[in-house]
Amino acid sequence: MNGSSAISPVEVGPETPTSGLATVVALANQKGGVGKSTTAINLAAALAMQGQRSLIVDLDPQGNATSGLGIDRSAISASIYDVLLKDVAVEDAIEPTSVKSLFVLPATIDLAGAEIELVPLLSREQRLRQAFGSILEDYQVIFIDCPPSLGLLTVNALTAAHEVLIPIQCEYYALEGLSQLLNNVDLVRRQLNPQLVIEGVVLTMYDSRTNLSRDVATQVRGHFGDKTYRTVIPRSVRISEAPSYGEPIEALDPMARGAIAYRELGREFRRRHGLD
Ligand SMILES: Nc1ncnc2c1ncn2[C@@H]1O[C@H](COP(=O)(O)OP(=O)(O)O)[C@@H](O)[C@H]1O
Ligand SMILES: [Mg+2]
Repeated sequence: MNGSSAISPVEVGPETPTSGLATVVALANQKGGVGKSTTAINLAAALAMQGQRSLIVDLDPQGNATSGLGIDRSAISASIYDVLLKDVAVEDAIEPTSVKSLFVLPATIDLAGAEIELVPLLSREQRLRQAFGSILEDYQVIFIDCPPSLGLLTVNALTAAHEVLIPIQCEYYALEGLSQLLNNVDLVRRQLNPQLVIEGVVLTMYDSRTNLSRDVATQVRGHFGDKTYRTVIPRSVRISEAPSYGEPIEALDPMARGAIAYRELGREFRRRHGLD
């Protein structure tokens, strides 16, 4: 598979600290279409249904996590853009969802300008971390759904996060470009956020009938070892349909294979983090 040899070894960092405060997890991979937003929505929903108060911060101007949770993007009064650039309080932009204990900090298309508008600002890499402030006490888990790039928005996510969770699609070129992501994580760790760790890797769109999916899984496990989640997310039409209903798969069709997989991923996530 292309690109795999260029990846530098994974360092093992300290586990996430802070009891009583939210664990902040950036879902990052600069490739589009690998399952970041889908995993943000469905893992956060699974955790919420398992009793963990969860927040999704939509940091992608495309707003897939926002619309996928049934939020009407044209009716949003304050968004992550206003939080990052207009000093709106983060509490004033958070919206409830149809799932109890699951909240979203929505994105609108304004956010597309943020990559440029952030450039001249003081502490431009730390706007999100600074904005989080007191809300860390209000949630057990905060997922940041990153855009498909390694620009300032993703740097803000990596600076605000304790951990990075990398979705990898079981497809050709799955590992291509990952070394760039890992380098960026290194850079942010050294310069802005010493506690940042790669928490895990989750295999998405796995098709057990194909050799390709199995090959990618073997390769990813070879490289990331135990950081790779045992739970794999199957390729499933139901998962891809759920956003059009504005609901996580767990709410739409709890017995679907995809719902079962994301619930299991939620349990594995809780075990790793000692969340009960
Ligand atoms: N397990 C899956 N099975 C089938 N389709 C999926 C699955 N996960 C994601 N998709 C679909 O693949 C596309 C890309 O997923 P998405 O989560 O938006 O990726 P990203 O946020 O990384 O760009 C979306 O249309 C989504 O509905
Ligand atoms: Mg996305």
